[in-house]
Formats: sequence, C-alpha cells, structure tokens
Amino acid sequence: MIDLARIRADFPILGETIRGKPLVFLDSAASAQKPRPVIQAMVHAMEHQYANIHRGLHWMSERTTEAYEEARDAVAALINANDRHEIIFTGNSTGAINLLAHSYGRGVMKPGQAVVISEMEHHSNIVPWQMLRDAHGIELRIAPITDAGELDLAAFEALLADGKVGLVAITHMSNVLGSYTPAERICTIAHAYGAKVMFDGSQAIVHRRIDVQALGADFYCFTGHKLYGPTGIGVLWGRRELLDAMPPFMGGGDMISSVSFEASKWAEVPHKFEAGTPAIIEGIGLKAAIDYVQAVGYDAIAAHEAALTDHALARLGNVEGLTILGRAQDRGGVISFTLAGAHPHDVATLLDRQGIAVRAGHHCAEPLMRRLGVDSTARASFGIYTTAGEIDTLADTLGKIREFFT
Ligand code: ALA
Repeated sequence: MIDLARIRADFPILGETIRGKPLVFLDSAASAQKPRPVIQAMVHAMEHQYANIHRGLHWMSERTTEAYEEARDAVAALINANDRHEIIFTGNSTGAINLLAHSYGRGVMKPGQAVVISEMEHHSNIVPWQMLRDAHGIELRIAPITDAGELDLAAFEALLADGKVGLVAITHMSNVLGSYTPAERICTIAHAYGAKVMFDGSQAIVHRRIDVQALGADFYCFTGHKLYGPTGIGVLWGRRELLDAMPPFMGGGDMISSVSFEASKWAEVPHKFEAGTPAIIEGIGLKAAIDYVQAVGYDAIAAHEAALTDHALARLGNVEGLTILGRAQDRGGVISFTLAGAHPHDVATLLDRQGIAVRAGHHCAEPLMRRLGVDSTARASFGIYTTAGEIDTLADTLGKIREFFT
C-alpha cells in the first residue's frame, strides 16, 4: 500500500493554496509535480558538483560525468534494457520520436514502405511521421480504435498484411482516454509481418512497470517531466543492433570519434545520438525521480491508481450531464469528459476558481477529437500523490457547475 500522507509531504507544491483554496492538482498527465529528492538532487549538483561532462579531465567533470551516467544506468534498470548503451537521452518524447523518424525513418526505411500509427496518438507521434512521409515517400497508415477507445486489433493486423510496414509507432497509453494498448500482442503481430515497433510510453511508464524485453518492443520512449522528474530530458530506448544500424540525427560535439574537413566518424551508441552538451542537471534529476518511483514501487503505484480510477469513474459517472470518453477495459488514471451545456474551457475555468487544476482542449490529439466527435474535452489525470478526497472534490464541484449551467 502507498503511504499517501508521506508521499504528499514529499511534494512541496501540494501545500500551495490557489485563491485561498487548497491546490487540487489533477493535471499530472500534462506534467507531474516534483518530489523534494528531485529538487534537492538538482540543487545539490549545481551547488556542489557541476561541470561539463565527457570532456573534462578535472575532478568536477569526472564526478559530474559519473552522476549523469548513473542516470543512464537507472533508466536501463527501470525499463529492463539489455544494455545501458541502448539508452539515448533526448529532450523529451517529441525529441525521441523525431530522432527515430529521422534516423530510422530516413536512414533505414526505404521509400514505398509504411509506418502505422493509431487514431489515438498525440501530435508528437503523428507529425514527425507526416514529415517523414512527405520527405521520404513513406506511406502513413492509421490503425482505428473502437468506440470503447481500444485499439482495433483486427484492423491493425489488416494494415500490416501486405508486408510493407517497416515500423509501428504507437502509444502505450492514451493521454486522452487513459487506454493502454496491448503491447505484447502488437509486437507479436507486427513482428510476424516484418515490422518493428516503437511505443510512446510517456503516459504508461508513470503508471505501470515497463519491461521492454518482456513487451518484445524494438523502441520505447518516454519523457522525464511526467515521471516526477525535470523537463528537458527524455529517453529513447532501442535494441542495440537497430541503433547501431541507424545514422545520427543531429551532428555536433560529443557524437563523433573523429572530425576532419573531409569527413567525420561517429561515436558508438548512445553518444552517436547525443550531439552537444546534454541536459546534465536534468539527467541527475531524472535519476532521483526514478529512484523515488522505484522506492515507492510500481506495485503500490499501480494499486493506488487502479483504486483511484475506479473511484473516479464511479463518482464522475454519477454527475448529471457528464460523459466520460472511452471505456477501455485496460485503462489508467487519465479521464476525459464533457459536461452537457458547458464548454470544456468554461468547465476548467470554473474548476480553477475552486483551486482544481485540470486540462481542457484537444490535448494535442486533434485527430482523436474528431474520431470522438468532439472539439475538446476536460481531462482529469492522477499521479502518485492524488487522493480519493480530491476526486470527490472534483465530482462535487462538477455537480455544482452543472447546476450553474442548467
Ligand atoms: N502530452 C501532455 C498532455 O497530454 C502535454 O497534456
């Protein structure tokens, strides 16, 4: 079981009041709050142990390099990567997917091949593939979802049947509907037709343990700031042999083994993909975040969030005029809803008056909004620190907003 009071005490921002009301933060899917160990690790680095890394021969550089590289080890352990060299640090998930679209899409895939994404992708897992399509003659295929908000596996498989698909790039958990995609099944099907699979795990890794080898994935990406870590750092994991075969994305310092005006040679992975001074402090912060999550434990996190989600679906389901979008069997703590007669932006604004933070809009998933037949939704999303009482406050306040609008 999660020790909620202790966890909440670790997050200084949760003590804030908004217009005199306690902050009820239900927007963790957009970005999660930071526990004190993350804040302290970053401050400690800047106060006591900071220099550029991989370059210096002095004490500060060597210690900072060690601290940064410990983050790579922590990520490798977190997702059960086979080899720490398979962990590439990027700016965020968007950076990871753009890297993949460039280095795998343009560097390895051939014109005439196809990429499959789904109807419930975030823009960050749509636009880079459109850019690849337009620049490199790659077809973009869209796997449909069911009305419940689950991947339509039969239709997905049909998209792969002609053997032209080189890559499936798909969310592991929708940032709008909270639905998980059946990762192992997706990999089994994709591999049977010769395609590789990349999961956007930005949401999923916050809520459940990820074992990339058990999933059978080829690539997996996530961002640090949703996992209680800092902004500015994300991860692309890929199987070593695939990464070795991919050309670099960005050129610059740190990604070479030698440079002359005639030609340059690339460093080994992961450095081949990490041009320039990286997000050093953020890497150190991400390690602290991973340590924090591991110490709480994914079993406890998953149990807490499953209970919260059940509670929220029941409480919100009883609010008159409220419609929850998506009813996937396998789902987590991200719930989108509409309230009859009220625009989601107005709902969010009125909730904010009571200190309740939710996101409203298209959630960077405009094609999914069209599929759902809405322009926008309001979305409540839960973190490790969310309480059932906060969900009650949300439901009660939504009930009052509904009364106001009727
Ligand atoms: N991807 C983030 C969200 O879903 C920003 O809100």
